[in-house]
Amino acid sequence: MTTKSPFLLSEQQTSLLETLISEMEQPSLLWTSGYLAGLAMAQRRVSLAVKPQEAAAATVAAAPVAKSTLTILYGSQTGNAKRLAQRFAAESEAAGLSVQLVDVADYAVRKLKSETHLFVVISTQGDGEPPDSAREFFEFLHGKKAPKLDTLQYAVLALGDSSYPDFCGVGRKIDERLAALGAKRIHNRGDCDLDIETVAEPWWVDTLNLARTALAPAGSVAAPQQNANVIPLHPSASAWNRDKPFSAQVLENQRITARGTDKHIFHLELSLEGSGLHYQPGDSLGVWHFNPPSLVDNVLATLGVSGDQTFTHKGETFTLRQWFSEKLELTRLTRAFLVEHSSRVNAGVDQADLQAALAEGARDALAAFLGTHQLIDLLKRFPANWTAETLITSLRPLTPRLYSISSSQTVAEDEVHLTVAKVAYDAHGEAHLGAASGFLAELPADGQLPIYIEENRHFRLPKNADRDVIMVGPGTGVAPFRAFLQERIESGAAGRNWLFFGAQHFDTQFLYQTEWQDALKKKHLNRIDLAFSRDQQEKIYVQHLIEKQGAELYAWLQNGAHFYVCGSTDMEKDVKAALLKAIAQHSGKGDEFANAWFAEAQKEGRYSRDVY
Ligand SMILES: Cc1cc2nc3c(=O)[nH]c(=O)nc-3n(C[C@H](O)[C@H](O)[C@H](O)COP(=O)(O)OP(=O)(O)OC[C@H]3O[C@@H](n4cnc5c(N)ncnc54)[C@H](O)[C@@H]3O)c2cc1C
Ligand SMILES: NC(=O)c1ccc[n+]([C@@H]2O[C@H](COP(=O)([O-])OP(=O)(O)OC[C@H]3O[C@@H](n4cnc5c(N)ncnc54)[C@H](OP(=O)(O)O)[C@@H]3O)[C@@H](O)[C@H]2O)c1
Ligand SMILES: Cc1cc2nc3c(=O)[nH]c(=O)nc-3n(C[C@H](O)[C@H](O)[C@H](O)COP(=O)(O)O)c2cc1C
Repeated sequence: MTTKSPFLLSEQQTSLLETLISEMEQPSLLWTSGYLAGLAMAQRRVSLAVKPQEAAAATVAAAPVAKSTLTILYGSQTGNAKRLAQRFAAESEAAGLSVQLVDVADYAVRKLKSETHLFVVISTQGDGEPPDSAREFFEFLHGKKAPKLDTLQYAVLALGDSSYPDFCGVGRKIDERLAALGAKRIHNRGDCDLDIETVAEPWWVDTLNLARTALAPAGSVAAPQQNANVIPLHPSASAWNRDKPFSAQVLENQRITARGTDKHIFHLELSLEGSGLHYQPGDSLGVWHFNPPSLVDNVLATLGVSGDQTFTHKGETFTLRQWFSEKLELTRLTRAFLVEHSSRVNAGVDQADLQAALAEGARDALAAFLGTHQLIDLLKRFPANWTAETLITSLRPLTPRLYSISSSQTVAEDEVHLTVAKVAYDAHGEAHLGAASGFLAELPADGQLPIYIEENRHFRLPKNADRDVIMVGPGTGVAPFRAFLQERIESGAAGRNWLFFGAQHFDTQFLYQTEWQDALKKKHLNRIDLAFSRDQQEKIYVQHLIEKQGAELYAWLQNGAHFYVCGSTDMEKDVKAALLKAIAQHSGKGDEFANAWFAEAQKEGRYSRDVY
């Protein structure tokens, strides 16, 4: 194929480019287009940096006023949607479009009716809930005050994880609602699973082309618009990120639950020396792991293949052992994979349980099945016609796991600390491990770990250090509160600190007990309430203590205290219910008041959660 040079290249350059691209497959072509856009932007930045006034004047003089501005709105809990939206915005700008990038948390919803072109990049959290940052926008959009959007053109990229029953539910609902309000969909929604790029990349290539046509007629260059909440398109990117992790040295890896409990929780200390990485209390650490070697052996043996054979997939060649150990998810299944597996199950094998999970509308059965089956369980319970090669092409790429950072950098300086519960259990007649937590538990004290910082700006200490904080963190949920307290002590914050902690047993699982006791003694920690669930006949959970301490808790809240919860999703739901009950009762104003108080507190960042 010969292509005409797009007016800027010499004949020789065109010929070189054609030779290069003629050998490329689609993924390489897509990557190269992004790479070149990035280079173009970097050059533009350099020229701006050299002569800012001249460059700005030239841009304004040359720029015919754009027809409209493209708004890229993102809603992200753990950074994926944010990363994509930032890239889309930068590439739109490089393509000459007028674009503004906005975190949905900062979006003035009244502006929606005057938007003309809107791209939404949003994840699904909880049980089909929007990210915390997007709750207000989501409610506004679905409420009575949502405006008619007849003049809006839009596209939605939904992020999710198909191992959850409500896959990409929030993106789907926003897409449907915008259409119902009269907006015109310029491109079909993309639903991204954990291998995000597989869907995001082609979706974006198409969507950008459509946006070019809609927004920037040939030859026009867009004039940037001013908006206080617009994020700079070129955030100062850290040298280390999810795709380019820093190799941190392990300084310490110590089990902090005592012998005599089968709960294995580890305190890890990692060195950030030389990385230039910074974090704040509330941030998480992304960690890349390998699958457990015993599991990889088990999968290879079940397939009856040697790990030394090589296989090439999507242009990459690895041994089968490498594919299963370093490249693919073996422990988290999805509905789509179950469907494929079911179609391959050998004749005569009873797959009633699998079929029940896949039945139309069987949401709970599916969630229960996915929560109790790893790949190996499926292969053994329902033997099927897989080869190593077909399996490799059907499994999702390995994804990093997040862990709440349990240190304050003000105190730990070049270190970052984690509190990790090892997932280990027996099921279907075999011992199982969680892939990442199993890997972390075994990390030797001089090993290396690929990591990156995942910012969480919705889980932050109060800006006003005089404010009190109430922290609810049972189990490993206590991790960020260790960081919070370290920071409050170091900065001399005047506000009071109250911790609710819970675990199964006082004797063996009271995480960081001496640190809390020391802080209590020094009056850095003003209150601690402890719920040891299995030290007596009846269960005692943190929410029971919240109810019990309702009067005092309400007094703290009235005094402006910020309330934080971290840990399992189910626990947070129960804690929220207990909090609402306490407010309703001790305000004397009932449920309606409590609900209104809660909505306001969430909006103002006085109720924040970090759940998993
Ligand atoms: C923002 C954030 C912060 C987090 N912070 C922390 C933290 O500070 N500390 C911490 O320990 N974790 C934390 N997590 C959770 C962590 O990211 C991992 O999800 C967790 O360690 C499990 O991952 P894994 O790879 O070990 O298990 P996976 O390999 O993902 O295994 C999970 C799979 O194993 C199966 N399974 C698991 N348990 C059982 C069981 N009991 N019975 C049957 N089947 C089961 C299920 O199929 C499940 O899908 C956090 C998560 C998020 C999103
Ligand atoms: N796959 C699963 O089913 C599952 C379930 C829980 C946690 N996890 C994972 O296991 C890891 C470590 O867990 P963890 O050590 O942080 O915490 P955890 O051991 O699950 O819980 C800590 C404490 O919270 C209690 N608890 C359980 N359910 C609660 C609820 N609804 N409300 C309030 N308290 C509750 C526990 O009591 P009891 O144990 O006595 O009930 C225990 O005392 C996390 O990665 C988490 O995601 C997985
Ligand atoms: C606690 C939790 C709950 C989740 N719930 C869902 C869900 O119900 N449906 C879904 O499709 N994805 C769910 N996900 C997966 C996320 O949407 C997915 O990881 C996405 O890439 C996150 O994007 P973000 O980093 O921009 O928030 C959940 C993830 C977490 C951590």
